[in-house]
Amino acid sequence: MYPALSGQHAEYTISTLQAFASGDRTNSPNNLMGDIASKMSDQDMEAVANYVLGLN
Ligand code: HEM
Repeated sequence: MYPALSGQHAEYTISTLQAFASGDRTNSPNNLMGDIASKMSDQDMEAVANYVLGLN
């Protein structure tokens, strides 16, 4: 149910978070990702995307 993100490209993570935040992507259960992403600043998204890239 929760997709693995480790090693995911930072560009993909950022653009996906932006899509959840803006409502362009709405497919997470109960709009969980929209709730989270809409509270994140651009700087938060960049930081978390770089963190995710470094996992593994
Ligand atoms: C800051 C923390 C988080 C980040 C950076 C994040 C990031 C992402 C990303 C990038 C995707 C898209 C994955 C893909 O397209 O392959 C995703 C999907 C998803 N996330 Fe999160 N997530 C976070 C927190 C959470 C939390 C706390 C939950 C659950 C309580 C959650 C539940 C989900 C689910 C269920 C999906 C799949 C939606 C679908 O069906 O495509 N996420 N997340």
